[in-house]
Amino acid sequence: MIVTVPGRPVPSPAAAPAEDPRPELLVDADLHAHGDPHGIWRWLRRHAPVHRHPAGELPAFWSLSRYADVRAVYRDPETFSSRHGVLLRPVALGEDPGGGMTLALTDPPRHRQLRAVVADWFTTRAVRSLEGTVRTCVRDVLARAYEQGRCDFVHDVAGRLSMHVIGTIMGVPERDHENLFRWTNEAFEAGVSLAAHHELMRYFIDLMERRIAEPTDDLVSMMAGGTLGDDLLTEEEILLNCENIIGATENGRLAVAGGMQAFLTHPDQWERLRADRDLLPGAIEEILRWTSSATHSMRTATRDCEVAGQRIAAGDRVVLWVPSANRDETVFADPYRFDVGRSPNRHLALGIGEHVCIGGTLARTQLRILLTELLDTAGRIEPAGPVHRVRSIAVAGPEHLPLHITPR
Ligand code: HEM
Repeated sequence: MIVTVPGRPVPSPAAAPAEDPRPELLVDADLHAHGDPHGIWRWLRRHAPVHRHPAGELPAFWSLSRYADVRAVYRDPETFSSRHGVLLRPVALGEDPGGGMTLALTDPPRHRQLRAVVADWFTTRAVRSLEGTVRTCVRDVLARAYEQGRCDFVHDVAGRLSMHVIGTIMGVPERDHENLFRWTNEAFEAGVSLAAHHELMRYFIDLMERRIAEPTDDLVSMMAGGTLGDDLLTEEEILLNCENIIGATENGRLAVAGGMQAFLTHPDQWERLRADRDLLPGAIEEILRWTSSATHSMRTATRDCEVAGQRIAAGDRVVLWVPSANRDETVFADPYRFDVGRSPNRHLALGIGEHVCIGGTLARTQLRILLTELLDTAGRIEPAGPVHRVRSIAVAGPEHLPLHITPR
């Protein structure tokens, strides 16, 4: 157990962070690593829900912080395009090279065609067929952690699990999973794009060429044989989509590790879950809401329009702050409380609408199987050192989570 808390006192509302009227700091990665952006988001929701952020190293953009506005923009891909990038990027780097080519960076109707090419691998049925693989991997990573008595939960458990599962889906042979894990870790740690990591890209070029020549039953083969209208996907499109999908799994590992961290700081919720496993599906949704590991999505207006009474011009960028939407006090009762029994819980952690996360079922399944194994087999789980958060305005969660962990 994490820590035993006897009984369950009647909760008083969890304290909201003090309002912080400095929205300009939201683009400072140091704030996300060392400070608390929630004070700024709370201030924005109350005082400036559609706030203009001036151009600097990043282009100018509108900040949206309220649930209703974030949801409305996600649901209107005709007015708010993903084609020009979905993450803030320094002006000096130019537009994202994946524009118009990857799942995340295309608009309908092309987006729907592309999504149909890969969708089969992410359906509930497909993910169910992977449950055995996920469980075996969870048992392996936990056995290793128990044997050593300590682990970095981000790297040794959440990261290894995410990479093993996506490697299996993509058709990376088991013997190469360790390399894939090492290369992606190096890329994430260096904060560079996966494409800039030559070994990883060389590996995927080789895998793609093998699957084009001799398709098997995996995601890369599916893309190699996939068509958009009458045309096969180009090699560039296949590679950029491999990068998009592997990169997106970082959200998964951060949510898993952030969930563990939430239980360490809310041990009463762990005990509640241990006592009543029926709470597990709700606990998973609460982990997703609480961690909101994808910090923002960006869109570009295709026409002049209005959001919450504010005029937005065609070509303007709009940034949707997901963690802020997920703490909106007009939607979530006591939003700063981590509550595994929360209901309803219609969070936006996985987006919504046209581009809703394709890996959502997979992410939930990994969380469910890992939490179940931990509840069944873990004895003590305790912090083994300070926790540092990732230094990023795009993703949030612990960079390292050192734990002492022993079996029951
Ligand atoms: C808890 C973990 C995860 C979170 C919080 C998350 C979050 C999100 C969000 C917010 C979006 C929408 C982005 C937008 O509209 O601009 C998205 C899209 C996407 N996610 Fe996830 N994700 C997670 C796990 C995964 C996993 C495990 C995979 C891959 C296996 C994945 C693959 C994708 C892809 C490919 C897209 C683009 C879908 C599209 O544009 O049609 N995600 N994710």
